[in-house]
Amino acid sequence: MIILGIETSCDDTGVAVYDTDAGLRAHALASQVELHQPYGGIVPELAARDHIQTLRPLIMEVLIRAKVKPAQINGVAYTAGPGLAGALLVGASLGRSLAWAWNVPAIDIHHMEGHLLSPMLEPNRPEFPFLALLVSGGHTMLVDVSGVGRYDILGSTLDDAIGEAFDKTAKLLGLEYPGGPSIAKAAEHGNLGQFRFPRPMTDRPGLDFSFSGLKTYARNTVAEGDLDDQLVADVAWAFQDAAVDTLVIKCRRALEVTGHDQMVIAGGVGANSELRRRMADVATTRPISVFYPRPELCTDNGAMIAYAGGLRLKSMAKDSLDFTVRPRWSLSSLGAV
Ligand code: KG4
Ligand code: ZN
Repeated sequence: MIILGIETSCDDTGVAVYDTDAGLRAHALASQVELHQPYGGIVPELAARDHIQTLRPLIMEVLIRAKVKPAQINGVAYTAGPGLAGALLVGASLGRSLAWAWNVPAIDIHHMEGHLLSPMLEPNRPEFPFLALLVSGGHTMLVDVSGVGRYDILGSTLDDAIGEAFDKTAKLLGLEYPGGPSIAKAAEHGNLGQFRFPRPMTDRPGLDFSFSGLKTYARNTVAEGDLDDQLVADVAWAFQDAAVDTLVIKCRRALEVTGHDQMVIAGGVGANSELRRRMADVATTRPISVFYPRPELCTDNGAMIAYAGGLRLKSMAKDSLDFTVRPRWSLSSLGAV
């Protein structure tokens, strides 16, 4: 089966062609980073308008690179939520239209299911069941995964998502959007241990997170000194150290609770090398394997949507022409395959 995947839930236009026999045939990404950079965050209306201009040519380019003709495509998968309503509608309308024109099923995919399954695109892949840590700009979740669509959410954030905390802290430090890579880069020059930030909610039981306090802690720390390059680097280091440590503490706890020996880390923050390094340390102290997608597939992309589409295609109910997008959509409400 050959699946076209379309991702437009936020500020990246992602397109891919996935072949369930031969693997990923091609994928491409058009980033809107420069468009949103002057605003220090994503402007939803600009995001939607840019997807409209970018998506169709990107699909044509990916089909050519994949050496696939429309007649060979067996399904069109697109992100139906969660995300920005206007941005989602662009991918949904073009995805549905192409599926209708090509007379193949349209498959609506949950964005976080795409992230969760993305390590399966790699040669070294986990087997069900496993534990998943999903860390993106909109979500922070620990999920007990027993199969496709069988997701038990063990913990999530009570306020800011981890990526959002990186982005907001970067903004107050005067660093570029997106904040995750900017903080990671600035932290390389930070003095280790110059500041120690709290590890929110690690002193109480449970697997939920809270990250909004870290950003406030960063603001208060900055207010006490001159915001020169060294202070920026020191605060970036302390923030990243605390954010990553908090994730690792909760991952250890979740591994203990579930007894899983495999874990998946996906979503934009999964590209963070400090997080990868510390999880590798965990893997030296207990018999676990940690799986990630390659860094370019940690952040939003069409490949994960095409892949999830390939898994869901077989269990698709008969298509109807009407459709909707779901800006809010619980991962635990998905049907099993
Ligand atoms: O998964 P993603 O591309 O989009 C959402 O679904 O939200 O995640 C984007 C988030 C942003 O908040 C960005 O700052 C963060 O991932 N991010 C990182 C890194 N690369 C991207 N955070 C920490 N370290 C990174 N290297
Ligand atoms: Zn995402």
